[in-house]
Amino acid sequence: MKPFVALLSCVAVWQPCLFPQEVSGRPKVPLIPTTWDHEALENLELPLASPAPSPTHVNSDYYYRLPIRPIYATYPIYGPGREPTGYIDWLKRQKPKILWDYSSSGKPVHAPPLRTKEDWINAGEMVFSSPIDWDESAVAVVRDPTMYRKTGMHLTKDGRMPYLRYVVRRPGLVEVGSDACAACHTRLMQDGSVIQGAQGNNPLERYGAYFDRLLAADSEHGKSFLEEERRGVLQNYAAPWIKRDPHSPENRLACPTTRPTADKSSRIPAASAPG
Ligand code: HEC
Repeated sequence: MKPFVALLSCVAVWQPCLFPQEVSGRPKVPLIPTTWDHEALENLELPLASPAPSPTHVNSDYYYRLPIRPIYATYPIYGPGREPTGYIDWLKRQKPKILWDYSSSGKPVHAPPLRTKEDWINAGEMVFSSPIDWDESAVAVVRDPTMYRKTGMHLTKDGRMPYLRYVVRRPGLVEVGSDACAACHTRLMQDGSVIQGAQGNNPLERYGAYFDRLLAADSEHGKSFLEEERRGVLQNYAAPWIKRDPHSPENRLACPTTRPTADKSSRIPAASAPG
């Protein structure tokens, strides 16, 4: 198994017991469970009432042949009025920096050290925070004071938006990286501290609705954007085995700009510690 995939599985199953006791003088080698076990997946889901639209999972051979994503260095996003002077220009001057990647033959090109338990925890945090999607047009949105006002987006004490980060993958191009585990599993607490790996409180439904409307209003690409989004909504929510599925293509719920629930989705406040 490739170490990257293995590491992700460590994060995903969240088992602190993966590290056996250190044998003195020898590096710790974590016990790495199989991430994509076809047989286990087959038994994981309850059969649907109507089996026809059941999903079919790819087999593990295909899974382990997937190219491994490189992990790029990322940079914080600041809220309105909190950005250091000249920050975006500074970002544009940063060279793309890969922290972790593999050659096509599976050899690490860049990789963090993986010797001690501490190394593995740091590497896990790196994977947890690594975006898997990028968007240049989102830069204006995450710098837009109206977005912060309308979505109730939280900021840390030092003015950072805790859920998303900038990425530089090409010289001179700043993008917002999204879909990292961190985007959904980061929790800002009332005292301004941040817990990674908790139930997140990113107001992402509201952020999505705000962003969708901006993109849909674009005279050139608005129509194709809406079609693509509609496909995405159906892919995520449609239940074709239900008669009169509220997310059927004819229904207005399938249209992202009329998603009535998104704006009203409750804003999860900064959390206080339990107990
Ligand atoms: C788009 C948002 C989103 C992203 C990105 C995301 N998650 Fe989640 N995750 C959720 C939600 C929502 C749940 C709860 C699902 C439920 O209860 O049905 C969840 C549940 C989990 C759970 C189960 C927690 C429990 O208490 O049972 C784990 C573990 C987890 N995610 C790990 C990850 C890891 C690791 C990544 C990155 C590889 C990741 N998640 C990326 C939204 C996300």
